[in-house]
Amino acid sequence: MVIKKVAMVGAGTMGNQIAMQVAICGFEVYCYSRKEATVANARSYSDVWFAKSVEKGKLTDEAADQAKSRLKFTTDLKEAVTDADIVIEAVSDVLKTKKEILGKIDQYTPDHTIYASNSSYIVSSLFADAVKHPENVLNVHFFNPALVMKLVEVVQGPHVSDDTVETVFEFIKSISKIPVLVRKEIYGFIVNRIFSAITKEACYMLDQGVASIEDVDTAVKNGLGHPMGPFELLDMTGIDLGYDVLMEKYKMTGDLSDKPSPAIVERYARQEYGRKSKKGFYNY
Ligand code: 3HC
Repeated sequence: MVIKKVAMVGAGTMGNQIAMQVAICGFEVYCYSRKEATVANARSYSDVWFAKSVEKGKLTDEAADQAKSRLKFTTDLKEAVTDADIVIEAVSDVLKTKKEILGKIDQYTPDHTIYASNSSYIVSSLFADAVKHPENVLNVHFFNPALVMKLVEVVQGPHVSDDTVETVFEFIKSISKIPVLVRKEIYGFIVNRIFSAITKEACYMLDQGVASIEDVDTAVKNGLGHPMGPFELLDMTGIDLGYDVLMEKYKMTGDLSDKPSPAIVERYARQEYGRKSKKGFYNY
């Protein structure tokens, strides 16, 4: 199966940037949110981004106009997903929400449609039964900022067919991203497992007064060559998401060392989620 039409369900930061990338690479894509305000924000972000890319000489006027014409925003789920060959879902990481929305989408989509969830940690075997063809449901995990980061983790749970994985791999390459295969459903997939090991140590050192936020970030950037330090990255991806990810892991393992550390819990309680709330480990 060759993918031609794409639907993006969820038009937040990740969903919108994934939809833009897909449009830039030549696909027709609907970007859906149930909220008018989210769609309006997504549309104005993309207008500004395309204008800036032309200004910077990264895209020609013509390429930007064509990409914009392929990218349509909507609050009508049926319009977004009918005839889609792949539906990429980036709604909130709540299992019940994912099941509900997949069940709705399944009413409108043909049998061959692939359902790709961008969830950071909810594995697709937990919601694959919401659709008629569970073999078409898998995790396809992009990274923030999705317009820039090349990697996409493709996770083959036990219910996912080889055909689905193969089609998704080709599609990911055709949108100028680099796919890697995660052969088993494992909490956090590859990158978030490694990222959480680093942030755990960073938070431990902060909580113990070993080093400041700035010095831990400076050390990781200059000692390991990472583009951002763990605290800068947590502020970018969201301390609320970081908290949820760790709490889910703790619920699964019951291991106290998996619980979010005070450095995260205190900020989460004060709703200091990072860049999006103008305060996290840093002020914005
Ligand atoms: N959205 C879209 N584009 C962005 C952006 C954003 N938030 N931030 C930067 N960019 C673009 C800039 O516009 C610029 O584009 P250009 O080359 O066309 O002009 C390009 O990225 C480089 O930006 P800058 O020159 O301003 O800054 P840097 O060179 O420092 O790059 C960065 C910024 C790409 C964010 C870089 O610091 C980086 O790679 N950081 C690490 C990001 C990372 O690790 N992400 C993974 C997070 S984990 C995750 O997402 C998993 C999830 O489950 C939590």
